[in-house]
Amino acid sequence: MITFVYARDQAYGIGKNNDMPWHLPADLKHFKQTTTGKTIVMGRKTFDSMNGPLPNRRNIVLTRNRSFTAADTDVVYSVDDVLALSKEQEVFVIGGTEIFNLFWNHCDKQIVTVIEDTFDADTFVPALKDDEWELVEAVAGTMDEKNRYPHEYRTYVRKT
Ligand SMILES: NC(=O)c1ccc[n+]([C@@H]2O[C@H](COP(=O)([O-])OP(=O)(O)OC[C@H]3O[C@@H](n4cnc5c(N)ncnc54)[C@H](OP(=O)(O)O)[C@@H]3O)[C@@H](O)[C@H]2O)c1
Repeated sequence: MITFVYARDQAYGIGKNNDMPWHLPADLKHFKQTTTGKTIVMGRKTFDSMNGPLPNRRNIVLTRNRSFTAADTDVVYSVDDVLALSKEQEVFVIGGTEIFNLFWNHCDKQIVTVIEDTFDADTFVPALKDDEWELVEAVAGTMDEKNRYPHEYRTYVRKT
């Protein structure tokens, strides 16, 4: 099974200059809780945007570059490699846009943090269509001095 995990703003932006457009540590904590102990798959650019692999989970990077290597990181070169793995276990695809587009039609669940603000962005995700996706959970995030944007943690499942 393939599950997406990402945060997007009101205009469906997810990134800017190979970084996150916002600072929202509560979402990073939510992401950590969701993916710790699991397998995450990301595009090479998203991997480059991080300080190495995320701890306590299996990190897989998708790239076309056969010489790409990184410590404590598995590398795959095709969508099919990830699809084969997803038949054995839940695989959390964590972005970015190129990678979401590759797996969009294979994904059955999306865990989405919706940030109720709009940021300058250069990478986006498509909107979820009501006739294709059912909202099964929505939990309001807590705002405080370090988490200044209204946000909601939503879970969508693909309608059969
Ligand atoms: N808000 C969020 O939740 C969130 C989550 C993740 C990322 N982001 C943001 O998204 C942005 C990055 O997204 P992006 O779309 O630019 O890049 P990306 O999807 O992270 O990575 C793109 C790379 O994936 C590899 N790739 C793409 N298609 C492939 C294929 N068919 N087979 C093998 N490898 C393939 C290529 O790597 P090579 O060039 O090495 O071949 C390509 O350059 C950043 O701003 C990041 O901060 C946001």
